[in-house]
Amino acid sequence: MSENTNDQKPLLSDIEVVRRIFTHIDNATTDLGKQSWQEPTDNYRSKERLESELKILQSRSIVFCPSSAIAKIGDYIARDVASVPLIVVRGLDGVARAFRNACRHRGVQLANGHGCTRALVCPYHGWAYSLDGSLRNIPHEQGFPDVDKATRGLVEVACFESNGLIFINQNPRADIEQDIACIPNLIPDNTRLLNSSSQIVNANWKLYLESSLEGYHIRQTHKSTFFPVQYDNLTVVEAFGQNSRVAFPYQSIEGLRGKEQADMSVDGRLTYVYHLFPNVVISTFPGCMQVNVLEPIDESTTRQHTYLVSGICESETVLLNGVTEGQNFAAKGAIEDLEIVLSAQQGLASKANEYLEFGLFESAIVRLHTHLAKEFERVSKAKEQM
Ligand code: FES
Ligand SMILES: [Fe+2]
Repeated sequence: MSENTNDQKPLLSDIEVVRRIFTHIDNATTDLGKQSWQEPTDNYRSKERLESELKILQSRSIVFCPSSAIAKIGDYIARDVASVPLIVVRGLDGVARAFRNACRHRGVQLANGHGCTRALVCPYHGWAYSLDGSLRNIPHEQGFPDVDKATRGLVEVACFESNGLIFINQNPRADIEQDIACIPNLIPDNTRLLNSSSQIVNANWKLYLESSLEGYHIRQTHKSTFFPVQYDNLTVVEAFGQNSRVAFPYQSIEGLRGKEQADMSVDGRLTYVYHLFPNVVISTFPGCMQVNVLEPIDESTTRQHTYLVSGICESETVLLNGVTEGQNFAAKGAIEDLEIVLSAQQGLASKANEYLEFGLFESAIVRLHTHLAKEFERVSKAKEQM
């Protein structure tokens, strides 16, 4: 059975996905892409290539974090996006805004990490900015007769909140709404942030990303974790815009045989992995969703930002314990993936391969590289015209 590669077609409903999974179980098949792909290993090793990929990230709308990561007025997150330090903060009016993270006096960063504040105050000399970025106070202002406070607010970057996610775009000419039009409502309004963390991964960001996007490795890599409760090489793969969704069923999906109806729940019976092009992966787990943002640091280093969100209330401790259990289980699998990814990074140094092979089972990765190649061309053309 071929995967749905029509970018414009809506995603299948849960029932349709479940039916497709049953067909695969019954026939020992899986979704197949239409083409294989050879990606040059230089594209994982080259500094120039990484520079171009950062340009791609800087020129389009990308997910910054889930809305619930800055739920309250004054909540902020300060971190690099494609090597550019930004701060995203929720204003008094409830609107999330993004700014370049540099004071307009002598450029010091206004914040690091995350927190909640009433104003952004520079740690160097105390210039203070309101949550909407306007310059509110200059200590000993008489020393700056030429500074017009009204025009020295923080430098704003386009920021857009939609379907439970905050997107930013550093390109002033970009059409944000068009970029995100095909992204479905992934994160319901009632979700809250359970936790967030960051970690450095000593591997190229694409090697790391690729490990989430196929089920061909389940038997070999996850022998005693996922394989005993999932299936070997059985996924449903769909395209939406430049993005993909890969459904990984658990054997407990058998409990839905004969019960396929509109209100059935696939929670805990399959994991959907949404790849939001280029660098974000959102995965569904029982009672929660994990948002992973991959920030390329250099060609062999990635910073992974993880946000765990859930619609379960704080008072529902039994359900929350279930989430913790599920996450502990997923974390074991993630360690196995990480070991493989680090090994693949080392494998690049062997110079054995001019390219990496991606087969018909790995079509979400083929889509990633197809669209990256197109974006690469677009950015190169734009550069030539400058
Ligand atoms: S650099 Fe920020 S107040 Fe001086
Ligand atoms: Fe894996």
